[in-house]
Amino acid sequence: MIKHNAVVTGADRGLGLALAEGLLVRGWRVFAGSYLPDWPQLKQLEERYPGMLVRLPLDVSSDTSVLAAAAAVEERTRSIDLLINNAGVITDKSEDSIRAPQDYEDILRVYQVNSLGPVRMTEAFLPLLERGEQKRICYVSSEAGSIGKAERTAWFAYCMSKAALNMGIKSLFSRLRPDGYTFRVYHPGWMKTYMSGEKNEQAELEPAESAAPALDYFLGAALPWDEKPRAVDEDRLVMRDWQGREWPW
Ligand SMILES: NC(=O)c1ccc[n+]([C@@H]2O[C@H](COP(=O)([O-])OP(=O)(O)OC[C@H]3O[C@@H](n4cnc5c(N)ncnc54)[C@H](OP(=O)(O)O)[C@@H]3O)[C@@H](O)[C@H]2O)c1
Repeated sequence: MIKHNAVVTGADRGLGLALAEGLLVRGWRVFAGSYLPDWPQLKQLEERYPGMLVRLPLDVSSDTSVLAAAAAVEERTRSIDLLINNAGVITDKSEDSIRAPQDYEDILRVYQVNSLGPVRMTEAFLPLLERGEQKRICYVSSEAGSIGKAERTAWFAYCMSKAALNMGIKSLFSRLRPDGYTFRVYHPGWMKTYMSGEKNEQAELEPAESAAPALDYFLGAALPWDEKPRAVDEDRLVMRDWQGREWPW
């Protein structure tokens, strides 16, 4: 029995895979964006949840790919209730300070995924969300995009792309909140994921440890971290981390 439909980007591994699994456990059908066709974990999850997990070839940096993914979802359902924009990249080029040469082409590549990808996805999936019951759009951002708490002296690609993402989300919120949409912006913490190309065992959190509070927050109407849960202020855009702490923009 399908409760609701969700789309999750960047679901091959890391946080996206954990979010997809968490939704499946909760009875959701998940259209899982797959960027790495040869990576086995998403296929294994599909075998455990036949018909409930639908793998979707998806490159969020490509207009063509995003439109094709939206059309593929539309062939199977007329509505989605939840869009989770999770896919993100860092650069594999040197991220040294301004005293070293910068690779601007590579910075633009990161922008295409981290900043424009979620906006592109929101535009393409809006007709499906429009017919959904929940109309909730979630964005995995990062503390690295917080100008208020920024302390780094470089990392231009990642930090600037996440700050730009936050600005894009603000414009989407201002336009879509009056139409009944609600938003979640999440910093997942330092996770043992694959952003550097291999699993980062030095990090603090397994992706599932961040996905659990994320899903409580993404799906709920109250702050899951509170002892006496308060209603989330749906009319205020907030970036919260995995412990519920609010980050400055
Ligand atoms: N890891 C952390 O500590 C941390 C901290 C703060 C925020 N975040 C954010 O958390 C989110 C999830 O990252 P993660 O840590 O789970 O990293 P991850 O393990 O690398 O997972 C991200 C997934 O997105 C995929 N992807 C890359 N480019 C894509 C594209 N153009 N279209 C669609 N999918 C694409 C990746 O494929 P490839 O593996 O081929 O790149 C990967 O499967 C990102 O938005 C990231 O910025 C992570």
